[in-house]
Amino acid sequence: MSKFLITGGAGFIGGNFCHYMVSKYPQDEFVCLDALTYAGNLETLEPIMNAGNFRFVHENICHREGIFKLFAEEHFDYVINFAAESHVDRSIENPEIFLKTNILGPQVLMDACLKYPVKRFHQVSTDEVYGDLPLDRPDLLFTEQTPLHTSSPYSASKAAADLLVMAYHRTFGLPCTISRCSNNYGPYQFPEKLIPMIIKKALADEPLPIYGKGINVRDWLHVYDHCTAIDLIVRQGADGEIYNIGGHNEKTNLEVVQTILNYLSKPQSLITFVKDRAGHDLRYAMDPSKLEKELGWRPKYTFETGIGRTIDWNLNHRDWLEHVASGEYLRFMKEYYSSK
Ligand code: NAD
Ligand code: TYD
Repeated sequence: MSKFLITGGAGFIGGNFCHYMVSKYPQDEFVCLDALTYAGNLETLEPIMNAGNFRFVHENICHREGIFKLFAEEHFDYVINFAAESHVDRSIENPEIFLKTNILGPQVLMDACLKYPVKRFHQVSTDEVYGDLPLDRPDLLFTEQTPLHTSSPYSASKAAADLLVMAYHRTFGLPCTISRCSNNYGPYQFPEKLIPMIIKKALADEPLPIYGKGINVRDWLHVYDHCTAIDLIVRQGADGEIYNIGGHNEKTNLEVVQTILNYLSKPQSLITFVKDRAGHDLRYAMDPSKLEKELGWRPKYTFETGIGRTIDWNLNHRDWLEHVASGEYLRFMKEYYSSK
């Protein structure tokens, strides 16, 4: 029996990870910790909330006293940190909370891991720490050796956390791994990110805001495949190592939006080009060969097989979408897009 702490588990990827782990490992115990910011929703955890091997704790990863108390009580074997501020556009509007949550939060967690020793601290990071690639060099991919070169306050905060994790490994001997994944999509994604936002707006026949010319490229991975990769890295990855995660699914933003419109039989005329994002990264593309060769990971979905299921999930979970898309969400969407 192993005991896991999963932080940020009421969010998109952490929530999917909780679902995956709780049903796959009934003999293990899972504590999900989340501050329930605008992006965290207990409804995401409803299907597993009453599972015997799962419990939820409302706490902030920056709250040292509360975190240390929890570690003293539980003695975790594995700590997996998903908790973060995760939206690039919000980081451009207000960087400060990104620095607090994304850098100081992991520091508190790692200090607790040193005081109450764990088998592994795993930091969930992102391909955005590598900056971007040119559009006219499809041969170039990010490897684990690509230098960190960030563009937004979000990516800078995630890169800072990665450096801090490696420093804790070298200086204090913290047993750790880091995973850097490409853009995710799938069930329970908050509708401020491109794919769920486009689905939501297209269903309401609202204009679809596409930054610049829509030619920026993202490398899309279904969240299920991100979960299987993290499970593998945490259990079998080598201590102190970084692993890239991606499935070679590069698409321009326009291609993504057109695919969604075709699936929903909605007109392309909904597409509206708006002012570009400041510092907008051109292209992300991951080389996941280390993870494939060393740990035997293979993704289950291509973009073509995953996107239809994701659109169907959104169609079948209108209640979830309506509940999360209220309050702070409405305020941000109104203020942010009115200036575009
Ligand atoms: P999300 O915004 O959907 O969820 C983040 C969760 O963290 C929310 O439940 C929120 O309440 C919680 N949280 C925020 N601040 C907290 C704090 N101080 N203490 C405790 N909980 C807090 O984000 P996501 O898309 O699920 O991303 C999860 C992780 O994966 C992040 O670390 C992100 O950087 C990384 N990542 C995301 C993507 C992607 O495409 N979404 C890709 C690669 C990596
Ligand atoms: P997003 O989902 O915010 O992820 P990230 O910025 O972390 O890659 O955006 C994905 C792409 O979609 C990115 O190139 C920006 C673009 N985009 C739009 O064109 N319009 C929008 O309203 C949003 C939110 C994103």
